[in-house]
Amino acid sequence: MCGIVGYSGEQQASEILLDGLERLEYRGYDSAGIAVISPEGELQIRKTKGRLKVLKSLTDNGRVFNGSTGIGHTRWATHGEPSDVNSHPHLGDRNTIAVVHNGIIENYAEIKEYLISKGKVFSSETDTEVIAQLMEYYYEKERDLMASVYKTISNIKGAYALGILCRDYPDVLIAARKDAPLLLGYSDKGHFIASDVTALLKYTREVSYMDDGEVAFIRKDRIEVFDEFGAPVEKEHHYIDWDVSAAEKQGYPHFMFKEIMEQPEAARSTIVPRISSGRIAFENFSLSDEYLKSINKIVIVACGSSYHVGMVGKYTLERLIKMPISVSLASEFRYADPLIDENALIIAISQSGETLDTMEAIREAKRHGSKILSIVNVKGSSIVRESDEVIYTLAGPEIAVATTKAYSTQLIVLNMFGIYLAELLGTIEKEEYIQLIAELRALPDKMSAVLEDTERIKLYASRYFNQESIFYIGRNIDYALGLEGGLKLKEISYIHSESYAAGELKHGTISLIDNGTLVMAVGTYGKLLEKTISNILEVKTRGADVIALTTDSHREAMEKAADMVITVPEAPVILLPSLGIIPLQLFAYYVALMRGCDIDKPRNLAKSVTVE
Ligand code: G6P
Repeated sequence: MCGIVGYSGEQQASEILLDGLERLEYRGYDSAGIAVISPEGELQIRKTKGRLKVLKSLTDNGRVFNGSTGIGHTRWATHGEPSDVNSHPHLGDRNTIAVVHNGIIENYAEIKEYLISKGKVFSSETDTEVIAQLMEYYYEKERDLMASVYKTISNIKGAYALGILCRDYPDVLIAARKDAPLLLGYSDKGHFIASDVTALLKYTREVSYMDDGEVAFIRKDRIEVFDEFGAPVEKEHHYIDWDVSAAEKQGYPHFMFKEIMEQPEAARSTIVPRISSGRIAFENFSLSDEYLKSINKIVIVACGSSYHVGMVGKYTLERLIKMPISVSLASEFRYADPLIDENALIIAISQSGETLDTMEAIREAKRHGSKILSIVNVKGSSIVRESDEVIYTLAGPEIAVATTKAYSTQLIVLNMFGIYLAELLGTIEKEEYIQLIAELRALPDKMSAVLEDTERIKLYASRYFNQESIFYIGRNIDYALGLEGGLKLKEISYIHSESYAAGELKHGTISLIDNGTLVMAVGTYGKLLEKTISNILEVKTRGADVIALTTDSHREAMEKAADMVITVPEAPVILLPSLGIIPLQLFAYYVALMRGCDIDKPRNLAKSVTVE
């Protein structure tokens, strides 16, 4: 969603801000802006609706501004339509304070009313403008910068990551955080703030993560951080080992295609360090054997594609550990008064580690005494810091809004945890355990083999990219795969899709099947193949065209029923979704490509959803 970058140092700020914002474009936005303080103490601002390239041309690539301290923002509209005036940075009406903000201020209406009664004049519809106006109001009364920051944040309710400038302090950038990510970056040439580490990778790898309630004063030569009471805080510094090139296209037409192709490598990076002497082990894992043996329920909470990983996990984990697993959309779980206690383990799955609903679901679970294990891709993210334990997916940065390699590595981590737990609980035979370890090691090469057959998928996409609606059907793990396949298609191609448990079709959806309707039948699970084939015949009888996805050994059986068949190599059932998802991702990709869609930045979507 919204992105923040800030800089105070020895270089011109505007070019660094525009470059940082460009690296945050992938998160989704509808307007952008920067503010830079001139050496004479003037707040210079340009902001505009639309893509960053508009802002760049308005500022001659930043060259119109002289100054080495500034803030930048990409906005994803919540309060007020996308427009020039609603874009950030926002100013107080005396042009003394400028603010960029991620998050939502819940009591903005009442503060606005108060400030209007005090004579302040507002120009936008946003919640953020009240922060700039309120701080300016306090600052003008007391002329104490630090006190006015603290007074402001103690009066606003909601979530915020803030970057603030005051024209009387041309070399100071201020940051504050509550419930929205913000990190500090350190370098010899100056210091930074950013909502996402990818904005800073070009300039520094040394960062620290701000905690809730903290305020930071950033200058060229130092960063001072204070806690909610104003006491100085020593921040731990972290080194980011992500490669800059990992966040660049490197000759691929789209990040999404690159990330689909990177899946075997991402899988290898995620699997290999967790297998030692033929057994699964997670480094510094703090959930004790005794605790894990005491749990009687597992609840997976997540949103979007991470939820679909949970849907696969329900089938695979129940099979492995013979314990009831429920999967809940985080946005539902948090208000459901869940039936959990200290014997329930909550597994929170999140690529970004910042999804607000997932975070709130975690907090709700903690109130019930449950422990949280999170599966996250971004180190130091908010969900990690609120969890009892984390197992990282080691996918590297994922830039395309539609997730691919993060989904795949989440699936692998969840299954590896299931196998680990099954051994501990004694619910898996030794031979099966040994076989699964060997199959996990072989998985990246099998994924590469699936990626070799892109031409067939491209051909099928070329036949059907003009469909109005595409249906995905499957049973068990294949149903869960269909959910993700259908979501990928909707997200990037804007084609309507429905993903159905194949047995449920005849209870309603089959009425939508007509001559030439495309049905993607997912049937990788050999045990249920016959049943899925019956469902394929049902839709074919009603005129549907069917592309079936199955394993190599079932090609022949599928060819008798479906019009077109895609196969993946054989694997144990719990690992099949890691192979089956790849053709579905590629199909969505090629369909979107043929429709001329903006694949990496689909309309209205954001990479990390930090609002409810
Ligand atoms: C957004 C993204 C999805 C993602 C979902 C959950 O909607 O576009 O790709 O699956 O958020 O995000 P998370 O970071 O928690 O996995």
